[in-house]
Amino acid sequence: EKGGYDYFMLKEIAEQPKAVADTLLGRIDAAGSLTLDEVRISDAELREVDKVVIVACGTAFHAGLIAKYAIEHWTRIPCEVELASEFRYRDPILGARSLVIAISQSGETMDTLMALRHARQQGSKVLAICNTNGSTIPRESDAVLYTHAGPEVAVASTKAFLTQLVACYLVALYLGQVRGTKWGDEITAVIRDLSHISGAVERVLETMEPVRALARTLAHKNTVLFLGRHVGYPVALEGALKLKELAYMHAEGFAAGELKHGPIALIEEDLPVVVVVPSPRGRSVLHDKIVSNIQEIRARGARTIVIAEEGDEAVVPYADHLIRIPVTPTLLQPLVATVPLQVFACELATARGNEVDQPRNLAKSVTVE
Ligand code: M6R
Repeated sequence: EKGGYDYFMLKEIAEQPKAVADTLLGRIDAAGSLTLDEVRISDAELREVDKVVIVACGTAFHAGLIAKYAIEHWTRIPCEVELASEFRYRDPILGARSLVIAISQSGETMDTLMALRHARQQGSKVLAICNTNGSTIPRESDAVLYTHAGPEVAVASTKAFLTQLVACYLVALYLGQVRGTKWGDEITAVIRDLSHISGAVERVLETMEPVRALARTLAHKNTVLFLGRHVGYPVALEGALKLKELAYMHAEGFAAGELKHGPIALIEEDLPVVVVVPSPRGRSVLHDKIVSNIQEIRARGARTIVIAEEGDEAVVPYADHLIRIPVTPTLLQPLVATVPLQVFACELATARGNEVDQPRNLAKSVTVE
Protein backbone atom coordinates (compact mmCIF):
# COMPACT_ATOMS: atom_id res chain seq x y z
CA GLU A 1 0.00 0.00 0.00
CA LYS A 2 2.93 2.31 0.56
CA GLY A 3 3.65 2.15 -3.17
CA GLY A 4 7.34 1.36 -2.71
CA TYR A 5 7.94 4.08 -0.10
CA ASP A 6 9.19 3.29 3.40
CA TYR A 7 6.48 5.41 4.99
CA PHE A 8 3.03 6.67 4.10
CA MET A 9 4.27 10.15 4.82
CA LEU A 10 6.89 9.92 2.06
CA LYS A 11 4.28 8.60 -0.34
CA GLU A 12 1.89 11.39 0.60
CA ILE A 13 4.55 14.06 0.20
CA ALA A 14 5.28 12.67 -3.27
CA GLU A 15 1.58 12.67 -4.16
CA GLN A 16 1.25 16.41 -3.60
CA PRO A 17 1.49 17.57 -7.23
CA LYS A 18 -1.36 15.22 -8.13
CA ALA A 19 -3.38 16.14 -5.04
CA VAL A 20 -3.08 19.82 -5.92
CA ALA A 21 -4.00 19.22 -9.57
CA ASP A 22 -6.97 17.02 -8.58
CA THR A 23 -8.28 19.71 -6.23
CA LEU A 24 -8.25 22.23 -9.06
CA LEU A 25 -9.80 19.84 -11.57
CA GLY A 26 -13.13 21.00 -12.97
CA ARG A 27 -13.05 24.20 -10.93
CA ILE A 28 -11.41 26.46 -13.51
CA ASP A 29 -13.32 26.74 -16.80
CA ALA A 30 -11.91 27.15 -20.30
CA ALA A 31 -12.20 30.93 -20.07
CA GLY A 32 -10.06 30.93 -16.91
CA SER A 33 -12.93 31.72 -14.52
CA LEU A 34 -13.79 29.74 -11.42
CA THR A 35 -16.87 27.57 -11.29
CA LEU A 36 -17.76 26.47 -7.80
CA ASP A 37 -21.35 25.36 -8.45
CA GLU A 38 -20.91 22.55 -5.95
CA VAL A 39 -20.75 25.16 -3.18
CA ARG A 40 -24.43 25.49 -2.46
CA ILE A 41 -24.27 29.08 -1.28
CA SER A 42 -25.62 31.38 -3.97
CA ASP A 43 -23.55 34.16 -5.52
CA ALA A 44 -26.17 36.59 -4.18
CA GLU A 45 -25.52 35.36 -0.64
CA LEU A 46 -21.75 35.49 -1.16
CA ARG A 47 -22.06 39.12 -2.27
CA GLU A 48 -23.75 39.89 1.05
CA VAL A 49 -21.02 38.39 3.23
CA ASP A 50 -19.57 41.05 5.52
CA LYS A 51 -17.16 38.93 7.53
CA VAL A 52 -15.35 35.63 7.13
CA VAL A 53 -14.40 33.55 10.16
CA ILE A 54 -12.19 30.51 9.72
CA VAL A 55 -12.09 27.80 12.37
CA ALA A 56 -9.74 24.80 12.39
CA CYS A 57 -7.12 22.94 14.42
CA GLY A 58 -3.45 22.12 13.92
CA THR A 59 -2.23 22.10 10.35
CA ALA A 60 -5.70 23.02 9.04
CA PHE A 61 -5.50 26.13 11.24
CA HIS A 62 -2.26 27.09 9.49
CA ALA A 63 -4.05 26.79 6.14
CA GLY A 64 -6.66 29.16 7.58
CA LEU A 65 -4.02 31.68 8.63
CA ILE A 66 -2.72 31.78 5.06
CA ALA A 67 -6.27 32.06 3.70
CA LYS A 68 -6.75 35.26 5.67
CA TYR A 69 -4.07 37.05 3.63
CA ALA A 70 -5.69 35.89 0.38
CA ILE A 71 -9.29 36.63 1.40
CA GLU A 72 -8.60 40.11 2.73
CA HIS A 73 -6.42 41.02 -0.25
CA TRP A 74 -8.68 39.75 -3.03
CA THR A 75 -12.10 40.41 -1.51
CA ARG A 76 -11.60 43.24 1.01
CA ILE A 77 -13.86 41.32 3.42
CA PRO A 78 -12.53 41.25 6.99
CA CYS A 79 -11.38 37.75 7.92
CA GLU A 80 -10.64 36.26 11.33
CA VAL A 81 -8.95 32.93 11.89
CA GLU A 82 -9.34 31.12 15.15
CA LEU A 83 -8.41 27.83 16.73
CA ALA A 84 -11.69 25.94 16.93
CA SER A 85 -10.94 24.98 20.53
CA GLU A 86 -10.76 28.66 21.52
CA PHE A 87 -13.59 29.92 19.33
CA ARG A 88 -16.19 27.61 20.79
CA TYR A 89 -15.61 28.73 24.34
CA ARG A 90 -15.63 32.46 23.56
CA ASP A 91 -18.69 34.42 22.76
CA PRO A 92 -17.91 35.19 19.12
CA ILE A 93 -19.88 37.89 17.34
CA LEU A 94 -21.54 36.32 14.33
CA GLY A 95 -24.56 37.09 12.23
CA ALA A 96 -26.48 36.01 9.16
CA ARG A 97 -23.96 37.76 6.91
CA SER A 98 -20.94 36.04 8.46
CA LEU A 99 -19.45 33.21 6.45
CA VAL A 100 -17.77 30.63 8.66
CA ILE A 101 -15.27 28.32 6.99
CA ALA A 102 -14.43 25.10 8.85
CA ILE A 103 -11.28 23.42 7.55
CA SER A 104 -10.69 19.76 8.40
CA GLN A 105 -8.93 16.90 6.65
CA SER A 106 -10.82 14.19 8.51
CA GLY A 107 -14.12 16.00 8.92
CA GLU A 108 -14.32 14.47 12.40
CA THR A 109 -12.30 16.81 14.62
CA MET A 110 -14.49 17.42 17.65
CA ASP A 111 -13.48 21.03 18.34
CA THR A 112 -14.01 22.06 14.71
CA LEU A 113 -17.39 20.33 14.68
CA MET A 114 -18.46 22.07 17.87
CA ALA A 115 -17.29 25.42 16.48
CA LEU A 116 -19.38 25.00 13.35
CA ARG A 117 -22.44 23.98 15.35
CA HIS A 118 -21.97 27.09 17.44
CA ALA A 119 -21.75 29.24 14.29
CA ARG A 120 -24.90 27.74 12.78
CA GLN A 121 -26.80 28.38 16.00
CA GLN A 122 -25.92 32.06 15.56
CA GLY A 123 -27.48 31.96 12.08
CA SER A 124 -24.22 32.02 10.10
CA LYS A 125 -23.61 29.98 6.97
CA VAL A 126 -20.88 27.38 7.29
CA LEU A 127 -18.72 26.23 4.40
CA ALA A 128 -16.62 23.14 5.10
CA ILE A 129 -13.30 22.52 3.39
CA CYS A 130 -12.83 18.82 3.90
CA ASN A 131 -10.96 15.81 2.50
CA THR A 132 -13.27 13.03 3.66
CA ASN A 133 -16.48 12.44 1.76
CA GLY A 134 -19.58 12.19 3.87
CA SER A 135 -17.81 12.84 7.18
CA THR A 136 -19.57 14.68 10.00
CA ILE A 137 -18.27 18.23 9.41
CA PRO A 138 -19.44 18.49 5.77
CA ARG A 139 -22.71 16.74 6.65
CA GLU A 140 -23.48 19.37 9.26
CA SER A 141 -22.36 22.34 7.12
CA ASP A 142 -24.43 24.42 4.69
CA ALA A 143 -21.96 23.76 1.91
CA VAL A 144 -18.75 21.89 1.25
CA LEU A 145 -15.73 22.26 -0.97
CA TYR A 146 -13.92 18.94 -1.00
CA THR A 147 -10.16 18.74 -1.25
CA HIS A 148 -9.17 15.86 -3.50
CA ALA A 149 -5.99 14.74 -1.75
CA GLY A 150 -7.10 11.11 -1.52
CA PRO A 151 -6.79 9.23 1.77
CA GLU A 152 -4.11 10.62 4.09
CA VAL A 153 -2.80 7.86 6.35
CA ALA A 154 0.27 9.35 8.06
CA VAL A 155 -0.62 11.24 11.21
CA ALA A 156 1.39 14.25 10.03
CA SER A 157 -0.67 16.14 7.49
CA THR A 158 1.08 16.95 4.21
CA LYS A 159 -0.92 16.58 1.02
CA ALA A 160 -4.14 17.49 2.82
CA PHE A 161 -2.52 20.80 3.84
CA LEU A 162 -1.53 21.72 0.29
CA THR A 163 -5.02 20.92 -0.97
CA GLN A 164 -6.57 22.92 1.89
CA LEU A 165 -4.52 25.86 0.68
CA VAL A 166 -5.76 25.34 -2.87
CA ALA A 167 -9.36 25.21 -1.64
CA CYS A 168 -8.85 28.38 0.40
CA TYR A 169 -7.39 30.19 -2.61
CA LEU A 170 -10.34 29.03 -4.71
CA VAL A 171 -12.80 30.39 -2.14
CA ALA A 172 -10.90 33.69 -1.88
CA LEU A 173 -10.64 34.10 -5.64
CA TYR A 174 -14.26 33.07 -6.16
CA LEU A 175 -15.47 35.59 -3.58
CA GLY A 176 -13.34 38.20 -5.36
CA GLN A 177 -14.77 37.13 -8.71
CA VAL A 178 -18.45 37.31 -7.69
CA ARG A 179 -18.03 40.55 -5.78
CA GLY A 180 -15.93 42.20 -8.47
CA THR A 181 -13.08 43.96 -6.68
CA LYS A 182 -10.45 46.21 -8.13
CA TRP A 183 -8.14 43.19 -8.23
CA GLY A 184 -9.99 41.66 -11.20
CA ASP A 185 -6.90 41.47 -13.43
CA GLU A 186 -4.75 40.09 -10.65
CA ILE A 187 -7.42 37.47 -9.87
CA THR A 188 -7.43 36.34 -13.50
CA ALA A 189 -3.63 36.11 -13.51
CA VAL A 190 -3.51 34.20 -10.23
CA ILE A 191 -6.13 31.70 -11.41
CA ARG A 192 -3.86 31.06 -14.39
CA ASP A 193 -0.80 30.65 -12.12
CA LEU A 194 -2.75 28.37 -9.80
CA SER A 195 -3.64 26.12 -12.71
CA HIS A 196 0.10 25.50 -13.30
CA ILE A 197 1.19 25.32 -9.68
CA SER A 198 1.33 21.53 -9.41
CA GLY A 199 4.32 21.60 -11.79
CA ALA A 200 6.10 23.93 -9.37
CA VAL A 201 5.41 21.56 -6.46
CA GLU A 202 6.80 18.74 -8.60
CA ARG A 203 10.00 20.72 -9.26
CA VAL A 204 10.50 21.30 -5.53
CA LEU A 205 10.21 17.57 -4.89
CA GLU A 206 12.93 16.88 -7.47
CA THR A 207 15.45 18.98 -5.55
CA MET A 208 14.99 17.63 -2.01
CA GLU A 209 18.14 15.48 -1.64
CA PRO A 210 20.26 18.31 -0.11
CA VAL A 211 17.43 19.01 2.36
CA ARG A 212 17.51 15.37 3.48
CA ALA A 213 21.28 15.44 3.81
CA LEU A 214 21.09 18.63 5.86
CA ALA A 215 18.40 17.16 8.15
CA ARG A 216 20.62 14.15 8.91
CA THR A 217 23.42 16.44 10.09
CA LEU A 218 21.04 18.13 12.55
CA ALA A 219 19.67 14.97 14.18
CA HIS A 220 21.52 15.66 17.45
CA LYS A 221 20.14 19.19 17.88
CA ASN A 222 17.58 20.05 20.55
CA THR A 223 16.01 23.14 19.04
CA VAL A 224 15.19 24.48 15.59
CA LEU A 225 13.57 27.88 15.06
CA PHE A 226 11.50 28.96 12.05
CA LEU A 227 11.00 32.52 10.90
CA GLY A 228 8.62 33.89 8.31
CA ARG A 229 6.66 36.95 7.45
CA HIS A 230 3.33 37.63 5.70
CA VAL A 231 2.19 34.23 4.32
CA GLY A 232 5.62 32.87 5.25
CA TYR A 233 4.73 33.24 8.93
CA PRO A 234 2.09 30.46 8.95
CA VAL A 235 4.52 28.41 6.83
CA ALA A 236 7.06 28.82 9.66
CA LEU A 237 4.44 27.70 12.18
CA GLU A 238 3.67 24.67 10.03
CA GLY A 239 7.38 23.78 9.70
CA ALA A 240 7.71 23.94 13.48
CA LEU A 241 4.59 21.82 14.06
CA LYS A 242 5.87 19.12 11.68
CA LEU A 243 9.18 19.02 13.54
CA LYS A 244 7.52 18.77 16.95
CA GLU A 245 5.19 15.98 16.03
CA LEU A 246 7.67 13.93 14.00
CA ALA A 247 11.13 14.61 15.43
CA TYR A 248 9.99 15.39 19.01
CA MET A 249 12.28 18.42 18.93
CA HIS A 250 11.72 21.81 20.41
CA ALA A 251 10.63 23.84 17.40
CA GLU A 252 9.03 27.25 17.28
CA GLY A 253 7.79 29.45 14.49
CA PHE A 254 8.02 33.22 14.77
CA ALA A 255 6.90 36.20 12.75
CA ALA A 256 10.22 37.68 11.67
CA GLY A 257 9.07 41.17 12.62
CA GLU A 258 8.79 40.01 16.23
CA LEU A 259 12.46 38.98 16.52
CA LYS A 260 13.52 42.11 18.37
CA HIS A 261 10.55 41.84 20.72
CA GLY A 262 11.98 38.75 22.38
CA PRO A 263 12.87 35.73 20.28
CA ILE A 264 16.27 37.07 19.20
CA ALA A 265 17.44 36.37 22.77
CA LEU A 266 17.20 32.67 21.92
CA ILE A 267 19.84 32.88 19.20
CA GLU A 268 23.09 31.20 20.15
CA GLU A 269 26.09 29.67 18.42
CA ASP A 270 25.13 27.10 15.77
CA LEU A 271 21.38 27.19 16.48
CA PRO A 272 19.58 26.13 13.29
CA VAL A 273 17.13 28.78 12.14
CA VAL A 274 15.00 28.16 9.07
CA VAL A 275 13.92 31.38 7.34
CA VAL A 276 11.16 31.53 4.74
CA VAL A 277 11.97 34.47 2.48
CA PRO A 278 9.21 36.31 0.61
CA SER A 279 9.65 36.99 -3.07
CA PRO A 280 11.91 39.96 -3.90
CA ARG A 281 9.24 40.94 -6.43
CA GLY A 282 5.83 42.08 -5.19
CA ARG A 283 6.19 42.97 -1.52
CA SER A 284 9.90 43.71 -1.83
CA VAL A 285 9.92 45.77 1.39
CA LEU A 286 9.24 42.61 3.34
CA HIS A 287 11.92 40.77 1.41
CA ASP A 288 14.53 43.36 2.34
CA LYS A 289 13.47 43.36 5.98
CA ILE A 290 13.82 39.61 6.20
CA VAL A 291 17.26 39.74 4.59
CA SER A 292 18.32 42.10 7.42
CA ASN A 293 16.80 39.67 9.95
CA ILE A 294 18.93 36.89 8.46
CA GLN A 295 22.02 39.10 8.78
CA GLU A 296 21.14 39.92 12.41
CA ILE A 297 20.67 36.35 13.55
CA ARG A 298 23.73 35.14 11.66
CA ALA A 299 25.85 37.83 13.31
CA ARG A 300 24.75 36.28 16.61
CA GLY A 301 25.88 32.82 15.58
CA ALA A 302 22.73 31.22 14.12
CA ARG A 303 23.15 28.59 11.42
CA THR A 304 20.84 29.99 8.74
CA ILE A 305 18.79 27.67 6.57
CA VAL A 306 17.23 29.92 3.98
CA ILE A 307 14.27 29.06 1.76
CA ALA A 308 14.26 31.57 -1.08
CA GLU A 309 12.96 31.98 -4.57
CA GLU A 310 15.12 31.03 -7.56
CA GLY A 311 17.08 34.08 -8.69
CA ASP A 312 16.98 35.80 -5.29
CA GLU A 313 20.68 36.64 -4.99
CA ALA A 314 20.39 39.00 -2.00
CA VAL A 315 20.15 36.09 0.46
CA VAL A 316 23.21 34.22 -0.83
CA PRO A 317 25.90 35.88 1.37
CA TYR A 318 23.94 35.16 4.57
CA ALA A 319 22.70 31.63 3.92
CA ASP A 320 24.66 28.78 5.49
CA HIS A 321 22.27 26.49 3.63
CA LEU A 322 20.15 27.65 0.73
CA ILE A 323 16.99 25.87 -0.39
CA ARG A 324 15.59 27.17 -3.67
CA ILE A 325 11.87 27.25 -4.51
CA PRO A 326 10.26 28.22 -7.82
CA VAL A 327 9.06 31.75 -8.51
CA THR A 328 5.34 31.99 -7.62
CA PRO A 329 2.91 34.84 -6.94
CA THR A 330 3.44 36.05 -3.35
CA LEU A 331 0.20 34.70 -1.94
CA LEU A 332 0.72 31.25 -3.49
CA GLN A 333 4.26 30.81 -2.16
CA PRO A 334 3.20 28.58 0.77
CA LEU A 335 2.33 25.83 -1.75
CA VAL A 336 6.00 25.49 -2.64
CA ALA A 337 7.68 26.76 0.55
CA THR A 338 6.04 24.18 2.84
CA VAL A 339 7.28 21.15 0.92
CA PRO A 340 10.97 21.37 1.98
CA LEU A 341 9.83 21.74 5.60
CA GLN A 342 7.82 18.52 5.38
CA VAL A 343 10.78 16.66 3.89
CA PHE A 344 13.09 18.17 6.51
CA ALA A 345 10.90 17.00 9.42
CA CYS A 346 10.35 13.56 7.95
CA GLU A 347 14.08 13.00 7.46
CA LEU A 348 14.93 14.27 10.94
CA ALA A 349 12.37 11.89 12.43
CA THR A 350 13.92 8.99 10.54
CA ALA A 351 17.43 10.00 11.56
CA ARG A 352 16.33 10.11 15.20
CA GLY A 353 14.80 6.65 14.91
CA ASN A 354 11.22 7.83 15.39
CA GLU A 355 8.11 6.21 14.03
CA VAL A 356 7.29 8.52 11.10
CA ASP A 357 3.72 7.53 10.29
CA GLN A 358 2.56 7.07 13.85
CA PRO A 359 4.32 9.56 16.16
CA ARG A 360 4.06 8.95 19.88
CA ASN A 361 1.01 10.25 21.74
CA LEU A 362 -0.81 11.39 18.59
CA ALA A 363 -3.94 10.20 16.77
CA LYS A 364 -4.80 10.95 13.14
CA SER A 365 -8.04 12.58 14.06
CA VAL A 366 -8.86 14.07 17.40
CA THR A 367 -12.46 13.12 18.06
CA VAL A 368 -12.36 13.99 21.73
CA GLU A 369 -11.95 17.37 23.37
O1 M6R B 1 -8.62 16.27 10.46
P1 M6R B 1 -8.31 17.71 10.80
O2 M6R B 1 -7.78 18.45 9.63
O3 M6R B 1 -9.47 18.42 11.44
O4 M6R B 1 -7.16 17.62 11.88
C1 M6R B 1 -6.65 18.78 12.49
C2 M6R B 1 -5.37 18.49 13.23
O5 M6R B 1 -5.58 17.52 14.22
C3 M6R B 1 -4.25 18.01 12.30
O6 M6R B 1 -4.00 18.92 11.27
C4 M6R B 1 -2.94 17.79 13.09
O7 M6R B 1 -2.46 19.02 13.56
C5 M6R B 1 -1.91 17.08 12.21
N1 M6R B 1 -1.45 15.88 12.85
C6 M6R B 1 -0.71 17.94 11.89
O8 M6R B 1 0.20 17.29 11.07
